Amino acid sequence: MKITVIQGPNLNMLGIRERSIYGAITLEALHEGLKKIAEQNGIEVEFHQSNLEGEIVDRIQESYGESDVIILNAAAYTHTSIAIRDAISAVNIPTIEVHISNTARREEFRHTSLISAVCAGIITGFGPFTYHLAMLAAIQICNEIAAQKAAQNSQNA
Ligand code: DQA
Repeated sequence: MKITVIQGPNLNMLGIRERSIYGAITLEALHEGLKKIAEQNGIEVEFHQSNLEGEIVDRIQESYGESDVIILNAAAYTHTSIAIRDAISAVNIPTIEVHISNTARREEFRHTSLISAVCAGIITGFGPFTYHLAMLAAIQICNEIAAQKAAQNSQNA
């Protein structure tokens, strides 16, 4: 089983960027922690970050047939990108929308997400720990997919 984590624009600036909102941890350190959780659960994980909308669309497309779950912080593109929404629909991979901050408590323009409706679920507002919660959700989805596959195989046997 495999989880793909995709990070949108300016998340490479974690640790520097508006620390009172996004916390002090760097993206690299955050990913190290997530990798450990995945390893402990016997699940493969890969990480991508891009500041470019088209590259995020490419990454989602490349997950098709490769990944079982996507964890996506589309950052500012959450509020604007029909292309990212369409990519999630196209690959039909369960996608968990994450936000470090509680976007509902922030500026009005952050209240709208164009991607929520095509995501499996949304986890938001717990600081960098939001990603840990998303990993737990992603592992749960992986386990459910594995159980479904095992049940199908035993039916076909
Ligand atoms: C964010 C929230 C977005 O509104 C913002 O543009 C980001 C980060 C978050 O993780 O809280 O870049 O997705």
